[in-house]
Amino acid sequence: MEFPSKLVLLFLIAILSSTQSQSATSPPAPVPFSPAPAPAPTSPYVNLTDLLSVAGPFHEFLGYLQSTKVIDTFQNQANNTHQGITLFVPKDSAFRALNKPPLPSLSNVSADQLKQIMLFHALPRFYSLADFDKLSQKNPVSTFAGSGQFALNFTYTNGLIRIDSGWSQTKLSSAVHSTNPVAIYQVDKVLLPEAVFGTDIPPMPAPAPAPEKAASQAPDADSPSADATSGKGGKGSGDSTSSAGSAGLGLLSKLVVACGGVMMLLL
Ligand SMILES: *[C@@H]1O[C@H](CO)[C@@H](O)[C@H](O)[C@H]1NC(C)=O
Ligand SMILES: *[C@@H]1O[C@H](CO)[C@@H](O)[C@H](O)[C@H]1NC(C)=O
Ligand SMILES: *[C@@H]1O[C@H](CO)[C@@H](O)[C@H](O)[C@H]1NC(C)=O
Ligand SMILES: *[C@@H]1O[C@H](CO)[C@@H](O)[C@H](O)[C@H]1NC(C)=O
Repeated sequence: MEFPSKLVLLFLIAILSSTQSQSATSPPAPVPFSPAPAPAPTSPYVNLTDLLSVAGPFHEFLGYLQSTKVIDTFQNQANNTHQGITLFVPKDSAFRALNKPPLPSLSNVSADQLKQIMLFHALPRFYSLADFDKLSQKNPVSTFAGSGQFALNFTYTNGLIRIDSGWSQTKLSSAVHSTNPVAIYQVDKVLLPEAVFGTDIPPMPAPAPAPEKAASQAPDADSPSADATSGKGGKGSGDSTSSAGSAGLGLLSKLVVACGGVMMLLL
């Protein structure tokens, strides 16, 4: 019950400050005050199915997550853990690229292997884009599928984040969602684990001639707006300050809102 106690605190602060500002004669002394915007009533619950069906297109990936029931594992991690989850989601076009040699086909793998491949696309912890700098110093990084040949290697260069699974070298091309506890990043290729496809990796064709595009997309994915939604969600809300004297009316209405909120929560 963190919410009600926060609101009660807000309520008390509001009363204190408003009495102070009322009793204060001119000029109103600026009283340090945190007007903490009324906490949004939204829960941190993120419906992964919902998110993946509107973003993308990620229909192929979502389809596999559902047919293997891995979606439940991921949703459970998002719902019920403090660690959270980080998902690497390939676009539909990445799945179409798979069937052309030297890349293997997913149609040939067993049900268990398919499940492992899907689990391979997530880390059992929330990582903001900025966190990949440190994470890249801890290679190899275990995935939901496990460690060893189910681990991924990351490199971080000026905000450009690359992933290496041995079979797939790709990059994070955009942030679909990055608010603790759920991070979803788009990747350009399906991640193929050595544990399923072996270490006898055939030479891959030269990478598509688009390094400039890659470079220009990276700052986009790492832009302040993408960063702003990530990481320390909510903790910053109490940091802003303003003067109580100039916020008398606003305070009063906030007080009313706060009272209503407390009562609704206590009822
Ligand atoms: C999540 O979203 C999907 C698609 O919109 C919906 O079918 C499903 O009922 C939702 N699940 C929950 C638990 O709200
Ligand atoms: C996740 O939470 C939502 C909303 O509370 C709930 O409807 C859903 O069943 C939960 N799913 C899992 C897998 O825990
Ligand atoms: C599927 O597996 C069989 C036997 O392991 C192999 O001969 C065939 O080439 C594979 N097909 C694809 C598309 O990978
Ligand atoms: C990841 O890095 C480790 C150590 O740097 C290396 O032994 C391993 O082969 C790499 N794995 C992949 C999939 O690139």
